[in-house]
Amino acid sequence: MDLKEAKALARRSMGDKRYEHTLNVKKMAVKLAKLYGADPDQAALAALLHDCAKERPKEELLQIIRDNAIIAENAENRPTPVWHGICAAILARTQWGVTDEAVLSAVACHTTGKPGMSLLDKIIFLADMTSAERDFPGVDELRRLACRDLDLAMIEGLDQTIRFVKQGKKEVDPMSRAAYNDLVKTYYGGRVSHE
Ligand SMILES: [Fe+2]
Ligand SMILES: [Fe+2]
Repeated sequence: MDLKEAKALARRSMGDKRYEHTLNVKKMAVKLAKLYGADPDQAALAALLHDCAKERPKEELLQIIRDNAIIAENAENRPTPVWHGICAAILARTQWGVTDEAVLSAVACHTTGKPGMSLLDKIIFLADMTSAERDFPGVDELRRLACRDLDLAMIEGLDQTIRFVKQGKKEVDPMSRAAYNDLVKTYYGGRVSHE
């Protein structure tokens, strides 16, 4: 699948607002890719695909997870808000003709991160969190930080994500905690952690 096809797929997979978000994520992802020496085309492709399953009904996402149990791992037991990234990666691999493992990984983990994130994984996670239309408190600082220190921005971004989920009394995905603890360990030598 090339970028033009991915853009057309994104356009027909979502409403106007989410499509605008997707184009903003693409812009930010390409900017970060150029800054940090990643491939801008891989970043653009992952960004265009990352939310392409988000508007599908929960039952359909669950079916995709069950039909692809091996690659979906234990996604069924993870919080439902993280399903759409995993499902987009499954559909990209099985139906949309995407073979680039780096792109598939970045799409799959864009909501939660994971331990041992690649440069592209980090770029897509942060581009999604700091795309132009985002306006949560602290987003400007996070946007600046993403351009200055990608790993520190990941730590801040995951910390905010985990706090936000906890505040909403929702279940924190174990992968977010694992990603946070892994990054902190690498960055600071493991002095802070999310239990
Ligand atoms: Fe998403
Ligand atoms: Fe998104």
